[in-house]
Amino acid sequence: MDMKRVLVTGGAGFIGSHLVDALMDGGHSVTVVDNLSTGKIENIQRLLPQRGFAFEKRDLAEPVGRDLLENCSVVFHLAANADVRAGTANPRVHFDQNIQVTYNLLEGVRQTDTEDFIFTSTSTVYGDAQTIPGLRALSAGLSLRGLEARM
Ligand SMILES: NC(=O)c1ccc[n+]([C@@H]2O[C@H](COP(=O)([O-])OP(=O)(O)OC[C@H]3O[C@@H](n4cnc5c(N)ncnc54)[C@H](O)[C@@H]3O)[C@@H](O)[C@H]2O)c1
Repeated sequence: MDMKRVLVTGGAGFIGSHLVDALMDGGHSVTVVDNLSTGKIENIQRLLPQRGFAFEKRDLAEPVGRDLLENCSVVFHLAANADVRAGTANPRVHFDQNIQVTYNLLEGVRQTDTEDFIFTSTSTVYGDAQTIPGLRALSAGLSLRGLEARM
């Protein structure tokens, strides 16, 4: 991959931190943006002193300016509230932390020269599993997180 800087949103989270490890091991320059709401600084601690790595604690519920995306050719978007039950109890959580955050980021990408935007969706887009394991036998019942990710 011929890339400038890679931006990983939610890079201090469960999946994001493993992705960041792989990108850094592959010799890429990586910026992680995370508000540390569920992510942990410990997940990226070893990378903090490394050349080519940058971390910015930032809430992506706020509009994204050019400063964040200016030198990035690729964005991996993993910042989200992945808690399916949270949306049932309080739908506003998913709107603010998933829909609004993704919109803000896409709007920033639209205004810059970012080449690729990679969105990590969720298996909840397929509905509730009728049998476990059994991805092929999913029903149409969607959680709020699933509906939001389909959008
Ligand atoms: N964990 C799984 O099994 C799984 C499977 C498939 C897809 N996914 C999807 O992958 C994505 C990441 O999942 P995860 O399990 O790593 O979750 P996670 O909670 O560990 O990571 C999400 C990260 O986003 C950050 N974040 C949340 N809101 C933010 C905001 N407003 N601004 C900046 N940072 C913010 C959190 O602090 C956290 O570090 C989610 O979209 C999830 O639905 C997860």
